[in-house]
Amino acid sequence: MGRKFVVGGNWKMNGNKAQISDILKFLEAGPLNPETEVIVGVPAIYLDYVKSNAPANVQVAAQNCYKADKGAFTGEISPAMLKDIKVNWVILGHSERRQLFKETDELIAEKVAFALESGLKVIACIGETLEEREAGKTEEVVFRQIKAIADKIKDWSNVVIAYEPVWAIGTGKTATPQQAQDVHKSLREYISQNISPEVAQSIRIQYGGSVTGANCKELGTQSDIDGFLVGGASLKPEFVNIVNAK
Ligand code: PGA
Repeated sequence: MGRKFVVGGNWKMNGNKAQISDILKFLEAGPLNPETEVIVGVPAIYLDYVKSNAPANVQVAAQNCYKADKGAFTGEISPAMLKDIKVNWVILGHSERRQLFKETDELIAEKVAFALESGLKVIACIGETLEEREAGKTEEVVFRQIKAIADKIKDWSNVVIAYEPVWAIGTGKTATPQQAQDVHKSLREYISQNISPEVAQSIRIQYGGSVTGANCKELGTQSDIDGFLVGGASLKPEFVNIVNAK
């Protein structure tokens, strides 16, 4: 069974109502390949607005959520709140959450587990820093990040993994198609051996890090790359070309 190509846009902390209405216009105009699943990751304050105004073929994701339904967690939003406004996806473990907000493997894994139990689908982000890559630790790091999640969940059917090397995020330095493919392939082997061959075969692994309209096609030809998580370029009309890379 083929894996459906899945392209996410991660708007990060960008956009205002005017800019978002421009983004919704180019998404509406598309045309977006119906064979590709499209998800936009929206700042919390605009989730309801985008959910209400996005074209039906574009799904909406939060960029974070907490591991409880409700309570005294000032500043956080819950999976139940996302479900309440019919947002079905959440991006968890982005490297900016890990680095700037000190989220640990453990916390991210707990959030992934709670989001899944709450009925959300999850884009779980992993990836090594430049120092880790240069020290030859890429696999060790991404396997550790996957294992933390594997220790907490059993059902991977609503998980997409986003492999995003930290050195490629927002830097204009994309991983080469071969560099990305190598890590995706190792991840699939790790999953096959440590989770299950079925999960390894069916799970979608996105590449993220300076994906553009210009480099997406070649990245998309790699056999273990099942889509992209796109930051900067997801705010621009070229996002349509990235959705249509395959
Ligand atoms: P970028 O960001 O495409 O701007 O490099 C990717 C991401 O952080 O998801």
